[in-house]
Amino acid sequence: MTTIDHPRPATRLGLRSDVRIDERDGTVRLLSRVGSFALHGVTPEVTRALRELAVAPRADLDLSETQLRQIVERAKQLFARFIELDGRVLVRIEATSRAGAYEPAEISADARLRLSKFALLRTLDNELVLESPLVRHRVTLVDPVAAAVVARLGTEGTAADLAGLLPEDATAELIGHLVGAGFVEQGTPTGFPSDTEAVLRQWDFHDLLSHSRARSGRFDQPFGGIFPYLGDIEPRPAIKPVPDGRSIELFRPELDEVLATDPSLTAVLEARTSVRQYGEKPLTARQIGEWLYRTARVRAVYGPTPNAPYEASTRPYPCGGAAYELELYLTVQRCDGIEPGIYYYDPVGHRLVLVNDGEADRQALLETASIATALQADPDVLVTMTSRFQRLSWKYRAIAYSVSLKHAGVLYQTMYLVATAMGLAPCGLGSGDSDLAARAFGLDYLTESSVGDFILGSRPVPAADAPPRPLPESWQAVNDPGWASSAYSLLRERHWTSS
Ligand SMILES: Cc1cc2nc3c(=O)[nH]c(=O)nc-3n(C[C@H](O)[C@H](O)[C@H](O)COP(=O)(O)O)c2cc1C
Repeated sequence: MTTIDHPRPATRLGLRSDVRIDERDGTVRLLSRVGSFALHGVTPEVTRALRELAVAPRADLDLSETQLRQIVERAKQLFARFIELDGRVLVRIEATSRAGAYEPAEISADARLRLSKFALLRTLDNELVLESPLVRHRVTLVDPVAAAVVARLGTEGTAADLAGLLPEDATAELIGHLVGAGFVEQGTPTGFPSDTEAVLRQWDFHDLLSHSRARSGRFDQPFGGIFPYLGDIEPRPAIKPVPDGRSIELFRPELDEVLATDPSLTAVLEARTSVRQYGEKPLTARQIGEWLYRTARVRAVYGPTPNAPYEASTRPYPCGGAAYELELYLTVQRCDGIEPGIYYYDPVGHRLVLVNDGEADRQALLETASIATALQADPDVLVTMTSRFQRLSWKYRAIAYSVSLKHAGVLYQTMYLVATAMGLAPCGLGSGDSDLAARAFGLDYLTESSVGDFILGSRPVPAADAPPRPLPESWQAVNDPGWASSAYSLLRERHWTSS
């Protein structure tokens, strides 16, 4: 009988490449991005073994040595697994979170296998890596044959369909880890979990990825307000240079007068509602001036300071890092005192600057906004928020984009409240066309992209004998709906009975 001798796979342990070993006062500290461990009473032999592990994985790591086994068990996130074939590393598997732990799975020969819809391949530090927001590990595909196995798993099949790439036992070893960690799914009679389970189905790939990276806990890359480009790339200016173009000075309200006449915060909060129908008379330039002044003007600029090594500003709404990366563009359709056109709002000069007077771009932006309201609204003005993203990414790693979306939300609410207090018709929008906005505003998509849209108009004047605020019949009152009527009556008295 002839036996075919082929190399056997082996899984070895090594320390993650970012682990630093610090030995002081009889305590050995293992420091890493996924956690740090202080080890007391470590024998010199084990310390030496740890130092060797930091340099190279070891096949002969003696886990019968109690202390070493305990350390591996306790600090398992700091250890990378290397799946090798005949001394050749196929993949390196590392935890990306302190909570990272899995056991390799046993795979039957007839199991249907496929990559999870959340798995992604990308280049990281010049290596090809497999990641997933569902998995607290990263697989570095060190050998191209491992990448070929993963590529084939993009389409469902059995382990037999992977034949020819690796010896059978090496394939089983590799797949066992990929399934155990959660990159590869086993099919069920109804399909693969990421396609069939209700919770997973309702996560879009990019949403879950973005969520997992915008919060700490699942990811081992640089995170948070660490000013990563300090001394390397100049920060973007706090105030965007104003584009060239014909400009319109805006009305500046006297804040003393506003304070004396504004309804109370509670009246505004309780009467606030989205309005998608507009009055016969359009918005006026004066109203736009007051509304922008109260929501988005620059109140002052300052910095750099020791805590914030860049220029910052203060405006009526709050902003992470005082970065104020959001800019406003007004697409005007109908406004008494302002010609139709696309304008940039200069928040320091408090004026509008015409950036595009093309009819086609203006109509395309307004149509996109109207479609977002299921064609209910034909607004007087569309306000598009763009993000000068680098203002934020100069300070924050990983969270910059999500922080910008939070800022858009903060600004939406400020816009809603001021518009309500002024008796206008406000409505936030959840979708917009960033590509169109970049073209229409003359922007580079990567440098300044739209992240939010808001429509504004004059409010229809209710008939004198109209009920205070007719609530839809389908509404079931919870916690006393009387608020809406009384707050609305107050606003009606203030804004509409005299018009
Ligand atoms: C972030 C955000 C996105 C929204 N997107 C849309 C939208 O795309 N179309 C729309 O007609 N209304 C949109 N709205 C308005 C909501 O539909 C509205 O706030 C919600 O129905 C509650 O009603 P109310 O604002 O009258 O209290 C949005 C509101 C917010 C805050």
